[in-house]
Amino acid sequence: MRSWKLGGPVASAVLAGALLIGPAARAVPLSFAPTPPMGWNSWNHFAAKVDDATVRAQADAMVASGMRDAGYRYINIDDTWEGTRDAQGVIHPNAKFPDMKALADYVHSKGLKLGIYSSPGPKTCAGYEGSFGHEAQDAQTYAAWGVDYLKYDLCSLSEPMIAAGSLAKAQAIELAAYRKMDAALRATGRPIVYSLCQYGFSQVWRWGGSVGGNLWRTTGDITDKFPRMLQIGLSQAGLAKYARPGNWNDPDMLEVGNGGMSAIEYRTHLSLWALLAAPLLAGNDLSTMSAETKAILTNREVIAIDQDPAGRQGDRVKAEGALEVWARPLAGGGRAVGLFNLSDQPAELEVAFTAVGLKGAVKTRDVWAAKDLGRLSRYKTQIPAHGVVLLRLGA
Ligand code: GLA
Repeated sequence: MRSWKLGGPVASAVLAGALLIGPAARAVPLSFAPTPPMGWNSWNHFAAKVDDATVRAQADAMVASGMRDAGYRYINIDDTWEGTRDAQGVIHPNAKFPDMKALADYVHSKGLKLGIYSSPGPKTCAGYEGSFGHEAQDAQTYAAWGVDYLKYDLCSLSEPMIAAGSLAKAQAIELAAYRKMDAALRATGRPIVYSLCQYGFSQVWRWGGSVGGNLWRTTGDITDKFPRMLQIGLSQAGLAKYARPGNWNDPDMLEVGNGGMSAIEYRTHLSLWALLAAPLLAGNDLSTMSAETKAILTNREVIAIDQDPAGRQGDRVKAEGALEVWARPLAGGGRAVGLFNLSDQPAELEVAFTAVGLKGAVKTRDVWAAKDLGRLSRYKTQIPAHGVVLLRLGA
């Protein structure tokens, strides 16, 4: 028998906080994600083929590859882990996951955290059991297992929303559902990062934080194809002001290493995500990845841009045809700047640093080349087709 009793100092602090602060406390999630969450998620590579052994192997590989030491923490099980509910309504994993608590203990023993997945609707996107009507119970179950992260995917809740007949009523259903799980997670007293997944409908970036979300998907699903990755990444222009420590725009998980793009294209993918202050959730098989994939995913300087402590998302500075410049303000007054050549031919691109808000000559570093370029006030360079030159300027 599991015990659902609340207890301990964390629970008391949460309860006290709720009494003192009241409903406004929703905007400050119990699990504060000061920088965009980093980790791995099963969906992009394994989809329904994820099981206990796979998850353990990913945790092992996250440590062995140096990814943990580079900042990756969450091992997230996506859809298809769910089994049935017992007579009391308690959810159990299916046969692929014989003992979720033991799996969480294993992941924790590696210095990592475990994430899980559900839906506010009765069914998940893959047709498994969702949390509708069992929110408090499921949150308690996750907490008892030792879960540290929940991706809550709209899926079948869209049916009653559509049936509601008006946008206002649909949104009321959606907001209530996301708030309900937020309250349920808080009531456990366990810090659980709350990831909203509703594909960027109804400008979720305007309200995701107010329903307790630490991050919210801003787009439909990514695929391992350069045009789709780009479409998703570039669609983030204009969303910078909605991101801040604790509340992140999420343009979906990484495809780096899944085989559908070249190394140049994967560097473009990771550079854009770092400029966007996006969560970095690797979506490949960490246990078989190549040295090249590992080098891309663990590049410390790119990760440092993504995880910059100021927590300010970057944005597009200019676009001329397939040549784009994106910049992100960094703590200490510097900038990360991406010079993107999205065309099918090599191209030359020049940027004056005044265009990214910097005056005079500043320390300039080519991040992927790991090369200091001296003090410059502008930079002109050749960029391969589908490639990027990522610069770190100033601080
Ligand atoms: C949706 C989500 C994906 C994944 C699948 C699982 O499509 O957007 O990220 O979680 O559901 O079924």
